[in-house]
Amino acid sequence: MDFSYKNGISVDDYNRLRDAVGWDTLNKEQAQAGINRSRMVVSCYEKNKIIGSARILWDGGYIAYLADVMVLPSHQGFGIGKKMVGELILFLKSQLKSEWKIKIVLISAKGKEPFYEKLGFIKRPNENDGAGMNMWIKYDE
Ligand SMILES: CC(C)(COP(=O)(O)OP(=O)(O)OC[C@H]1O[C@@H](n2cnc3c(N)ncnc32)[C@H](O)[C@@H]1OP(=O)(O)O)[C@@H](O)C(=O)NCCC(=O)NCCS
Repeated sequence: MDFSYKNGISVDDYNRLRDAVGWDTLNKEQAQAGINRSRMVVSCYEKNKIIGSARILWDGGYIAYLADVMVLPSHQGFGIGKKMVGELILFLKSQLKSEWKIKIVLISAKGKEPFYEKLGFIKRPNENDGAGMNMWIKYDE
C-alpha cells in the first residue's frame, strides 16, 4: 500500500477516524479547537483518503501529551501507528536544547499498552510511579 504522511487534519477526517475506531465523534467547534492548539498533528493518507492520525500537545517546556492515536481498523498492523508516533517523538527531540528533557505522557486505551511499550513508553503503575488518572467534566444544561 502507498501511504503519504502530512501535517494537520480536517475536522471531518478527524471525526471520521474517531468513529471508525469506535470513539464518540466530537462537536465540530471543539474538535477544531483541539486540532488548532495541538503542537503537531501527523496524518496518514492513501491517495486522499484518511487512514490514520496522531497529535501531540506540548507546553514548550518539559511536558508533552500524546493524544488521539488512531488508525482505520482495515489498515492496522502495517506500522502506520508506529510511524506517526515516531514522527511526533522525532519532532519533540528536534526541539530539545542543551540540558532540556521532555516527559511525554499518554493514557493508553485498554489493551494497547504493548503498542506504546514497543515505542519506549513505560507502563504505570510501577515500582516508582502511581497510576495515571483522569476526570471528565461536562456542560450542565
Ligand atoms: C493502537 C493503534 C494506533 C496501533 O496502530 P497500528 O498501525 O495498528 O500499529 P503498528 O502496526 O504501527 O504496530 C507497531 C507495533 O506494535 C504492535 N502492536 C500494535 N497494536 C498492538 C496491540 N494492541 N497489542 C500488542 N501489540 C500491538 C505491532 O504488532 C507492531 O509490532 P512490531 O513493531 O514488533 O511489528 C491502532 O490499533 C488503533 O488505532 N487502535 C484503535 C484506536 C486506539 O485504541 N488507539 C490508541 C489510543 S490510546
